[in-house]
Amino acid sequence: MASIACRFGHKLLCGTVQRPILSSRMMSDKTYNLVTVEKVGEKKNVGLITLNSPRTLNALNDAMIGDVRSAAEDLSEDKDIGCVVLTGKGKAFAAGADIKQMQPMTFQSCTMSGFISNWGQMGKRPVIAAVNGYALGGGCELAMMCDIIYASDKAQFGQPEILLGTIPGAGGTQRLTRAVGKSLAMELVLTGDRINAETALAAGLVSKVVEGDKLIEEAIKTAEKIANNSKLTVAIAKEAVDSAFETTLAQGCLFERKLFYSTFATDDRREGMGAFVEKRKANFTDN
Ligand code: CAA
Repeated sequence: MASIACRFGHKLLCGTVQRPILSSRMMSDKTYNLVTVEKVGEKKNVGLITLNSPRTLNALNDAMIGDVRSAAEDLSEDKDIGCVVLTGKGKAFAAGADIKQMQPMTFQSCTMSGFISNWGQMGKRPVIAAVNGYALGGGCELAMMCDIIYASDKAQFGQPEILLGTIPGAGGTQRLTRAVGKSLAMELVLTGDRINAETALAAGLVSKVVEGDKLIEEAIKTAEKIANNSKLTVAIAKEAVDSAFETTLAQGCLFERKLFYSTFATDDRREGMGAFVEKRKANFTDN
């Protein structure tokens, strides 16, 4: 299949990604200044959000985070969309919280404004972070808030806040430690050093490393697989996996079993098993 260079500089397969599919205005009355939003994939059932401030390495200020949240929520409300891919334009996924915005802030202003407390709400659909370059500080934290992380071979991950006299504030000390274990997390948080994609893969931070220009294509392929499943069952499965970070093993297994039972109340469970027995492809209705 022929490949085309899209306007973000990613190479995408012809026929896999068709665009421009929609503008943000078509999805809602909101417009996004700092992200672009597209519907991609053969069935146009994948949302692609691209952080679009390459000049600042997609530094995450309030406006950028607001746009990411709105775009993800708007895509969640779109009945066609079953999965979202989040990436960055240029050489960074995101180089962290906006240091220029933070520089004049005080303990009082952080506390009174609830700084960063609104990060991390990214709609109801699963989100794949396609980390194309630097994912540092809040950028690494944003990737870790996603459900799956794919990295390009040019990606670099780190929590360099210590070099600025501060510490991670959007979950870095918690999610990184759960992802890679104490020793590497402690090393990254205390030194500010970065790791490359291969190290991130070996440490379990990312699930796949892809050649730079194939990253979005690969992430979309996986997103399409997810989007072709029942959105209802995907939501239940995601809730089950997420609970692993919040509970003991016994409580988590109990919760999983209850969720498993709950799928037996759905049309899609009946359809999925019926289709297997009848040797045909399942036709899920998200019910
Ligand atoms: N905030 C604001 N602006 C940033 C930024 C950030 N986090 N990262 C990069 N930029 C800006 C630079 O200031 C520069 O702008 P100007 O051209 O106007 O000077 C532009 O982006 C390009 O950056 P560089 O010239 O530095 O690019 P480089 O290729 O030489 O270096 C880099 C790339 C190593 C990523 C370097 O930019 C860097 O170290 N950035 C800061 C990374 C960082 O410390 N992140 C943590 C932020 S704190 C945080 O995130 C807290 C939290 O937990 C929520």
